[in-house]
Amino acid sequence: MEKSILITGASGFIGSSLVNEAIERGYRTYAGVRAHSSRKYLDHPGINFIELDLDDPVTMDHALVSFKSRFGRPDFIIHAAGITKALHRWEYRKINFERTRDLVRMLIREDIAPHKFIYISSLSSFGPGEKGAPITAYQEKRPVSEYGKSKLATEQFLHGLEDFPFVIINPTAVYGPRDKGFLLVMKSIQKHLEIKIAGAGEQLSFVHVDDLCQAVFLCMESAPVRRQFLVSDLEAYTEKDFNGIVRAGLRRKTISMTLPVWMAKGAVWATEALGRISGKAVLLNRDRFPEFAAANWGVDCSEIAALGFRPRHDLKQGLDQTIRWYQKEGWL
Ligand SMILES: NC(=O)c1ccc[n+]([C@@H]2O[C@H](COP(=O)([O-])OP(=O)(O)OC[C@H]3O[C@@H](n4cnc5c(N)ncnc54)[C@H](OP(=O)(O)O)[C@@H]3O)[C@@H](O)[C@H]2O)c1
Repeated sequence: MEKSILITGASGFIGSSLVNEAIERGYRTYAGVRAHSSRKYLDHPGINFIELDLDDPVTMDHALVSFKSRFGRPDFIIHAAGITKALHRWEYRKINFERTRDLVRMLIREDIAPHKFIYISSLSSFGPGEKGAPITAYQEKRPVSEYGKSKLATEQFLHGLEDFPFVIINPTAVYGPRDKGFLLVMKSIQKHLEIKIAGAGEQLSFVHVDDLCQAVFLCMESAPVRRQFLVSDLEAYTEKDFNGIVRAGLRRKTISMTLPVWMAKGAVWATEALGRISGKAVLLNRDRFPEFAAANWGVDCSEIAALGFRPRHDLKQGLDQTIRWYQKEGWL
């Protein structure tokens, strides 16, 4: 019988890609969305929807209990719901940690715990690497943002549970069609402007969303539980490499401006303030600034490679494909 999978955050960039991957792999797929979530990229007729709002635990508990009575326990849950930007720092802890903790406690209490629970965390829970050395799975974690701390708190909570079958995935920066995170950089380069923060981006890592999905399903289908995997495309890059590929893909020449940290902080403060006025959280905010200003996000992914992970996209080919998608959709 086909296995069942419930994916939270299914309307998001990563969640919607995971849903499509699950459908392609023949899973009975349940997409966890909120009432107001966009379903634009969830148009496959095989997708079943379940309304899950982490911020509404009573309704969520009810939805999951009724799910269990109708379909039984899901074989797998991928928890991809979360926030990557917020108007207030405390929101990261509330959604990414407290609400996730409540969800897991409820799954245990109501006997809905799946065969495997995959938690989509982030490299931010580790914080940037030491100079010259890639981040490794066993190093001390030193997140530099509330976002990263909220992801780390969830990881620690999961590790503290006895007998709960989790696997934690820590993706580096994810790019690909539907992503809005890198769009800002691309738009800037399209307008012939490259803005850099002094000292940032000496070692970077990236992963295409399709490859992240391959890694997630590989872990889900074959990794032992209670393990943690860092995921990138297994290569190391610099900001110069990234910008060079985007420049070539967009056929643009640029003027490059390197801002000292104090000036970049001021620009971020202004961007965040404008976002506040319009009630919209922005990714480039004061909380996440130390991450954007860090020198080293290189990562050692030998554990996922040992599991058999072989990314299909290198950065050049993946960014070219993403740029073409943005252009087709009129985003660029
Ligand atoms: N993008 C990256 O580079 C990256 C890298 C590492 C880790 N991650 C992690 O991957 C996960 C997905 O990120 P993403 O880039 O796909 O972000 P995204 O596009 O913003 O998607 C976030 C998803 O979470 C849902 N969500 C937010 N708050 C919720 C709540 N209170 N209740 C239920 N659902 C809620 C959103 O639903 P709505 O559509 O209704 O808002 C959306 O489906 C996050 O946990 C993020 O930390 C992302």
